[in-house]
Amino acid sequence: MTSASPLSPAALLRWYIDAGADETVGEVALDRFALSSAPPAPRPSLSAAMAPEPARAASTPITGTATHIASGCATLAELRRALEDFESPSLRRAAQNTVFADGDPQAAVMVIGEAPGQQEDRQGLPFVGKSGKLLDSMLGSIGLDRSSVYITNVVAWRPLDNRKPTAEEVAVCLPFLVRHIELVDPQLLILLGGAAASAVLARHEGITRLRGQWHSYESPGMSRPVPAIATFHPAYLLRTPEAKRGAWRDLLAVKRRLEGMSASAN
Ligand code: URA
Repeated sequence: MTSASPLSPAALLRWYIDAGADETVGEVALDRFALSSAPPAPRPSLSAAMAPEPARAASTPITGTATHIASGCATLAELRRALEDFESPSLRRAAQNTVFADGDPQAAVMVIGEAPGQQEDRQGLPFVGKSGKLLDSMLGSIGLDRSSVYITNVVAWRPLDNRKPTAEEVAVCLPFLVRHIELVDPQLLILLGGAAASAVLARHEGITRLRGQWHSYESPGMSRPVPAIATFHPAYLLRTPEAKRGAWRDLLAVKRRLEGMSASAN
């Protein structure tokens, strides 16, 4: 007789959530007759129990080290070298290359994606695979191209099997991204997908909530706030073509903003 393979507690919890269970129940039966009339303390919901651990605070050793290294970089070349030398155990193990950036560091627009995929890892450049082709078309639709924007990712190394970077990996890379934005000093940020939007804007809402509106990005090393817009990631648009309409609206908002900026500069 073959025994069923054991389900991990996390997989079991996931199953309960998917099946619609939305609260935890204790192991010991409650004697409801013995309960006082005081309202019961709220119990943690299953979704809260399944939520990813919050990102490490900036003062913990790993992120602290990254913050120290990144803030000591005075140029993009130094930042690139620091990233190439940086030890990030879970990410570096799987990646062939550090994917730093592409495009013009003097550009007004800085585009930030999530993490390199297989093609990007091979070539050491962001957005050169299928998503990159769609990104090129998206930029082209508002008169931009790779030579007129600057492109990077939240995470500089391809996560194994193209999985999403974990909250901890994002937290480790964030000081480098913050310094990257400071050194490029763009006039406008385009954040591709939920991972980039929540990392840069420090917000927990999903991309559907965050996109389609202007946010203000600030960091201590920047002289002024930078307008930032989040939109759907090209990889999501490849899977969900009906979302392209929303992405198009976001791109038109970028176009209008850039036109406004150049009109007021003249
Ligand atoms: N997806 C990303 O977020 N970044 C890349 O560079 C490629 C695919």
